[in-house]
Amino acid sequence: MSTPEITRAATADLYDAYVLKNYGRAPLTLVRGSGSLVWDDAGRQFLDFTSGIAVSALGHCHPHWVDAVRRQAGELIHVSNLFRNPNQGELARRLVGYAGPGRVFFCNSGAEANEGLLKLARLHGMRKAGGEEGRIYKVICAKNAFHGRTFGGMSATPQEKIQKGFRPLVPGFAFGELNDLASFEALIDDQTAAIFIETIQGESGINPATPAFLLGLRELCNRHNLLLLLDEVQCGVGRTGRFYAFEHAGIRPDAIGMAKGLGGGFPIGAVWIGEKSADLFQPGMHGTTFGGTPLACAAALAVLDVLEKEKLLDAVNRHAPAWHDALRRLAGDFPAQVAAVRGQGYLVGVQLTGDPAPFAAALREAGLLVPLSGNNVFRLLPPLTATPAELARSVEIIRSVLAARA
Ligand SMILES: Cc1ncc(COP(=O)(O)O)c(C=O)c1O
Repeated sequence: MSTPEITRAATADLYDAYVLKNYGRAPLTLVRGSGSLVWDDAGRQFLDFTSGIAVSALGHCHPHWVDAVRRQAGELIHVSNLFRNPNQGELARRLVGYAGPGRVFFCNSGAEANEGLLKLARLHGMRKAGGEEGRIYKVICAKNAFHGRTFGGMSATPQEKIQKGFRPLVPGFAFGELNDLASFEALIDDQTAAIFIETIQGESGINPATPAFLLGLRELCNRHNLLLLLDEVQCGVGRTGRFYAFEHAGIRPDAIGMAKGLGGGFPIGAVWIGEKSADLFQPGMHGTTFGGTPLACAAALAVLDVLEKEKLLDAVNRHAPAWHDALRRLAGDFPAQVAAVRGQGYLVGVQLTGDPAPFAAALREAGLLVPLSGNNVFRLLPPLTATPAELARSVEIIRSVLAARA
């Protein structure tokens, strides 16, 4: 059965009958995309500022990406990590170029990248304890964090809506207040191995760690021999106008988890580990069947190629300020509805004074797709290729919906 036939055979009914009901889905079936635009099965066009939740860094079906993936699919798709493949080596080299001296492990998702970070914390703790296992293992995270749906990820995510139903969780996590250095310092004890935070909290309303806080954490980690682990799954790979969001603070963490935008739509995650700790993983200690396949790495290399050739970081930095100003004007013009606008580059949260779900539905009807976040926030995550005209169009649509509801 071809895709159009499946679509005509009522995709909604198929979902109703056969797909697990673990998501709250919009009543929309998407069938085609190009750049910042997607189309549904009725031919309606939308400006897609969901970008697959910060995944489609190059927009939909960028020609260079499509070419690279097509070419690789005809050459070699998957080989086991029991062997080398040239794309994985090259992608690791390129990521080390962005992050600094170290090594890279490839996986398939953000949660899996974060599992790698948490396992690294355990190994660091064991080294710190002179080889004794289970004595130094505590990881300090931030309140309101989101690190994924695996047991490690959930355990690092102190939110009832994420953890409920899945306890008992992994022991050894403590939680400080984001941007309150003293609250993190107070949690450090002789069992502590690492500090682990999102550089910008994405799922709880776009809350950035301030540069001063990140510098303070770096200093605390140095002083107490803790690893500083940063979750850049959502904010990394160019979204804030730097390759990694922590670069704005001028620090370097000990390890980084990334995914989402890295593959431009192809599932790939990665863990970069700085040279001081990279030897903690020895053969046989970690792995995953699908990590770093030739095809996944070709997709990620295509993302990096376009990011560099089309100077997308410069573009984000050039276009974001006017867009942010226009969004902030909305907050000024509609104070009864818009409480705040915050974010960096193409990672923006608009905080409403009420429930953002009906608002996002109205935006959808008006032609703009956005994902929700916590604390009454909806996010704007344009592809890094979005043009000033598309950014301006998003503001017009939001303004029209605000005006209609005023
Ligand atoms: C900051 C952060 N970490 C981890 C994850 C989990 O990534 P994945 O859904 O690819 O497992 C997400 C996903 O939204 C995220 O935003």
